[in-house]
Amino acid sequence: MIILGIETSCDETGIALLEKNGQSPIKILSNVVASSLHLHAKTGGIIPEIAAREQVKLMTPTLIQALKDGLDYEFPSKKPPAIDAIAITYGPGLIGSLLVGVETAKTLSMLWNKPLIPVNHMYGHLYANWICAKGKEQNGEPSTLSAKPYAQITFPAIVLIVSGGHTDLLLMKGHNDITVLGGTRDDAAGEAFDKIGRLLNLPYPAGPTIAKLAEKGDPKAFKLPRPMWDSKDYDFSFSGLKTAVLNLTKTNQGIADVISRRSREIPRRSLVNTRDDKLLADLCASVEQAIVDVLIKKSLQAAKEYKAKSILLGGGVAANKKLRNQLSFEIGNFKLEIGLFVPSAQLCTDNGTMIAAAGFFTNQAISWKDVNANPQLYY
Ligand code: KG4
Ligand code: ZN
Repeated sequence: MIILGIETSCDETGIALLEKNGQSPIKILSNVVASSLHLHAKTGGIIPEIAAREQVKLMTPTLIQALKDGLDYEFPSKKPPAIDAIAITYGPGLIGSLLVGVETAKTLSMLWNKPLIPVNHMYGHLYANWICAKGKEQNGEPSTLSAKPYAQITFPAIVLIVSGGHTDLLLMKGHNDITVLGGTRDDAAGEAFDKIGRLLNLPYPAGPTIAKLAEKGDPKAFKLPRPMWDSKDYDFSFSGLKTAVLNLTKTNQGIADVISRRSREIPRRSLVNTRDDKLLADLCASVEQAIVDVLIKKSLQAAKEYKAKSILLGGGVAANKKLRNQLSFEIGNFKLEIGLFVPSAQLCTDNGTMIAAAGFFTNQAISWKDVNANPQLYY
């Protein structure tokens, strides 16, 4: 079975073709991701109107490329491509961006007479774990924790979805049995990275930049709060951490100087200066550690309570090496018999493969007439 996956919930236009036959691992036939991120980097955050306009511009070339790469299919053609279904993100996300993908998918479904499977973007991040992505990580390093064949994922599983808009902890007992254990009460983990990056004059999105700077810093240098550390529930809160960093930028002269020097020396949102001060690296390492510590504490707490056999990560922040490595270390250190599954870094951020993958498992095709974008969609 071949599914065409289309993802346009935010600033990425992701279109992919995936194949799954019986119990064999899901195979990527093509995966094309175009992005308007560079335009938002200039403004320090996503401008929905620009994201939607770029989706319109990028949709057709991305679709043409994905079908050519995966099936050697060329437009125009009298025949539809050899696909069995189309999976489309219908929410949550930005309404303008979602509409571009949803309306395109509905048109293709009608013209080609192919079933249309509406997919919740969050389930896409979850099902990225079922894609067998061989090869290397984006940065050229060998992938130590990339997705393993899905046959090894056993239930119950604890799922941590950490993206720019979400920090959710789920209990997955089966493909049709998923419950939300908790979520963020304010900022999501990725949002915390991005907002703190803005305070420090780092380019948007700041998550990868903070992670890079943190490699040279001391994670114990600054004592930062671990919000909701002792709460017995599975909720998160990261706005207090952002406030703590804001206070530091006002009260710590060294930090204030670094920020002011950076804003004078390099344009505010340009790429990171490799000569960045040790102080900034220390602060980034401390911020990253605070976020990672809370995410891991809650995930392991849930894994123990629900006797999980697997922990699955998903979403852009799951690309964070510290999170992946420390969680792997702690599972081993506490001798927990839990398999850790993390998609390869390029499948953690938004893409069409994850939507097609979710399509295989949810497989609830409905008439294209009944598919509508839903920006507020929950689980
Ligand atoms: O899942 P995603 O691509 O888009 C949403 O659905 O939100 O996640 C984007 C988020 C951004 O906040 C970005 O800063 C964060 O993921 N991110 C990271 C890393 N790579 C991306 N955060 C921390 N460390 C990273 N390596
Ligand atoms: Zn996402």
